Amino acid sequence: MTDTKSVLAELAASVLEGVEPAALEAMIEVPPNPDMGDLSIPCFKLSKTLRQSPQLIAEALAGKLPAHPAFAKATALSGYLNVFFDKRHFAESVLGDVLRQGDRYGCRAIGSGKTIVIDFSSPNIAKPFHVGHLRSTVIGNALYRIHRFLGYDCVGINHLGDWGTQFGKLITAYKLWGDRNEVEAGGIEELMRLYVKFHDEAEAKPELDDTARAWFVKLERGDEEALELWRWFKAISYKEFERIYGLLGVTFDSDAGESFYNDKMGAVVEELKAKGLLEEDQGAYLVRLDDFNMPPALILKKDGATLYHTRDIAAALYRQRTYGFAKAIYVTDYAQNLHFQQWFKVIDLMGYEWADRLVHVPFGRVNLEGVKFSTRKGNVVLLEELLRQAIDKTRDIIESKNPSLDDKDEVAKQVGVGAIVFNDLSNNRIKDVSFSWKDVLNFEGESGPYVQYTYARACSVLRKAGLSAQKAGEAFAGESGFDASLLANPEAQQVVKELAAFPDKVVQAMDKLEPSIVSRHLIDIAQSFNRFYHECPILTDDAALKTARLALVACACVVLRVGLGLIGLQSPERI
Ligand code: ARG
Repeated sequence: MTDTKSVLAELAASVLEGVEPAALEAMIEVPPNPDMGDLSIPCFKLSKTLRQSPQLIAEALAGKLPAHPAFAKATALSGYLNVFFDKRHFAESVLGDVLRQGDRYGCRAIGSGKTIVIDFSSPNIAKPFHVGHLRSTVIGNALYRIHRFLGYDCVGINHLGDWGTQFGKLITAYKLWGDRNEVEAGGIEELMRLYVKFHDEAEAKPELDDTARAWFVKLERGDEEALELWRWFKAISYKEFERIYGLLGVTFDSDAGESFYNDKMGAVVEELKAKGLLEEDQGAYLVRLDDFNMPPALILKKDGATLYHTRDIAAALYRQRTYGFAKAIYVTDYAQNLHFQQWFKVIDLMGYEWADRLVHVPFGRVNLEGVKFSTRKGNVVLLEELLRQAIDKTRDIIESKNPSLDDKDEVAKQVGVGAIVFNDLSNNRIKDVSFSWKDVLNFEGESGPYVQYTYARACSVLRKAGLSAQKAGEAFAGESGFDASLLANPEAQQVVKELAAFPDKVVQAMDKLEPSIVSRHLIDIAQSFNRFYHECPILTDDAALKTARLALVACACVVLRVGLGLIGLQSPERI
């Protein structure tokens, strides 16, 4: 599309002396109400430089603005210059872009040559994959896809919690009360049972804690028996995590978890010492952060064991060395805010100028109360069951609405899982998410199924006209593909506007690390499309009108599909 803002800025600058187009472009606003125009320049921002009243400036602009095919008229109102698009030109240029670029519509080279490391999901071995990890997985995956779309090289890392004193406890518990077959059969649930039992028993027998510490020290020193058990616990846990990743369709470029940094931590400790940052405190070592109003970052325990902080610092140094990242982001629950602020500060104190490229991306909690589970076996099962329930419920809905659909199971999976994912991404990430099946699976509400259903509806219209949703671009290619003046009515124009806004929304989502900007925009596109669909018969007898409307439908299809893909949802063509 002709970038209308920059065109307007150029035109306005040619009328006003001494005002730069770039400065003008930054001022341009979209009026709250389309009756007031499509773009406006608030002239009070110019009145100081130009020593004139805002209204006089607006009037001068309205009178002298050179004609341009993108704009139909310009008016001055209360100190604003309001500019109206030429509707035909607008529709033609936006749809032309979408048809030409297809699934690359909105793609940019902003990140070209730059690498972003995205640390997300990162559940803990032998512990439940809880709903916080689900959110991290879903948000991280969307950020991954958005950045890749904007040209970044992305490295998705599952920083598995596979190291730490809890493994000393687990080994101790397993050796005292565990059974190989029961662990094989029970998986994480059985490992959790042992872990909980350890804590219960250790209350009365504190010597158990000593045994556990000793096992962890053995593990850190590479003791074969400890390592063998640890590897086994890890394999058992990962098998369960993989089922969830499979349902969500999420993959990683690296599974280097906390244990990966074992042989890299000695050097970190030495470096901290050499830089005079490490302080001994009753046998333990820490970095004081009093000057920054934070509690100290613990680096080594009394027994020499490393901590969560130590491993994150070692990982950041390794990732900077290995990937040379322009940005490294960490997607976790906001409960970890302090943890990240602390060790980001340590990296800064170590003198690394790239400390400011580390970004914590916190998110709020999900409230799953109100969801009923048939079993109460701990959260892994719970989460998987949540996804399975969504799939089953979706399958029931499909069964009643469209019993003759092929691939019902596959579609139910795409829509059911999509419903959960979309729910997680439908508000600012920092907000807590509430969960109700009624909203999550509401095909009419602001939900994933609503957007997917709108896409399927658009595909069905194209199909009836003998067009394919994947190759619609070809049908309307060329100058005489369709007559855009037939898309001047408000319903069609609103769809065009939403499609035109999409590329900027993707960039905003990247800037703010906020996938909900894309999700919410998809709702806007779907709502405007459905209004158009209901108000404007598409498959009419008027051939020219039909072609123009079909072109708009084809473009809506493309943008919905691209947008859904960016937030990690599938786009089934039939539901
Ligand atoms: N395993 C951690 C947890 O479950 C999350 C890890 C996040 N990433 C990181 N580099 N600290 O709380």
